[in-house]
Amino acid sequence: AMRKRSALALPPLLLLLLLCARPAQGSNGSLPLVMWHGMGDSCCNPLSMGAIKKMVEEEIPGIYVLSLMIGKTVTEDMKNGFFMDVNEQVSTVCEQLARDPRLKGGYNAMGFSQGGQFLRAVAQRCPSPPMKNLISVGGQHQGVFGLPRCPGESSALCEWIRKRLNSGAYTDLVQKHLVQAQYWHDPLNEDLYRTHSLFLADINQERAVNESYKKNLQALQKFVMVKFLQDSVVDPVNSEWFGFFKPGQDVELDTLQESTLYKEDRLGLAAMDKAGKLVFLASDGDHLQFDRAWFNANLLPFLR
Ligand SMILES: *[C@@H]1O[C@H](CO)[C@@H](O)[C@H](O)[C@H]1NC(C)=O
Ligand SMILES: *[C@@H]1O[C@H](CO)[C@@H](O)[C@H](O)[C@H]1NC(C)=O
Repeated sequence: AMRKRSALALPPLLLLLLLCARPAQGSNGSLPLVMWHGMGDSCCNPLSMGAIKKMVEEEIPGIYVLSLMIGKTVTEDMKNGFFMDVNEQVSTVCEQLARDPRLKGGYNAMGFSQGGQFLRAVAQRCPSPPMKNLISVGGQHQGVFGLPRCPGESSALCEWIRKRLNSGAYTDLVQKHLVQAQYWHDPLNEDLYRTHSLFLADINQERAVNESYKKNLQALQKFVMVKFLQDSVVDPVNSEWFGFFKPGQDVELDTLQESTLYKEDRLGLAAMDKAGKLVFLASDGDHLQFDRAWFNANLLPFLR
């Protein structure tokens, strides 16, 4: 039954990915790639992360691609994407990366959907081994205020999650046990968000400025953010470029550059922007929909 819920597992795209194009020349000197899947997906689904891993291996022969499994089995991995404390997920990933001898010299990271903001937390909290480029594919860096079409629209699970988010996203119990609550950002209640969001408000320096977060993020060579122009899953879509609603209402949007986070440079993003380290890419499709030609033209250059 869980299989049905992987709407975020990008089906049409992957068929295209699998059918199109031949691998280009690669080199074996390439940095390893660490991938973190999205909600409702798993490390090794042959139609999503598995296909992307295979494609990258074809394009860059000899590359080491690690698709993160959160938990001991694929089923656990998928469930954890809904129910496991995100701070714990991030620290287990940090330990795993630190233990992996093949990552010693550094690695590139590519996160899909919520995996995008989770890998940013890894960059900010765990500088060793060093992450070089961070590619966020449809990640929600200012969180979401709505999941208009979450994976498994018709499923009871999805309705249940939506109800929890609407009624009590910031209660400690929901924060601890519902992943989506940990990046729920209610612009009508910024104070509640600031004080009670256990994950997102922390990595976005809402309560205090942790200087090591700032320093570690700025150590990236590039921070690439992909936004899907017809995204029907993420609300607001601008969160994929680190924008969000202006505080106190849910209609008007601020870009990253218009936000307090940027103006006060609480996270080092303004400095990174000036240094040419932020890359804003748009893809003309729904959430996580892209084809191999687009991937090769736009993302592959950051992995070589
Ligand atoms: C990369 O490594 C693979 C297998 O280890 C080898 O077959 C291939 O020729 C190498 N490619 C380059 C460009 O060195
Ligand atoms: C800043 O973040 C690091 C890494 O997560 C943590 O070890 C440290 O305690 C934090 N510092 C403060 C002042 O919260």
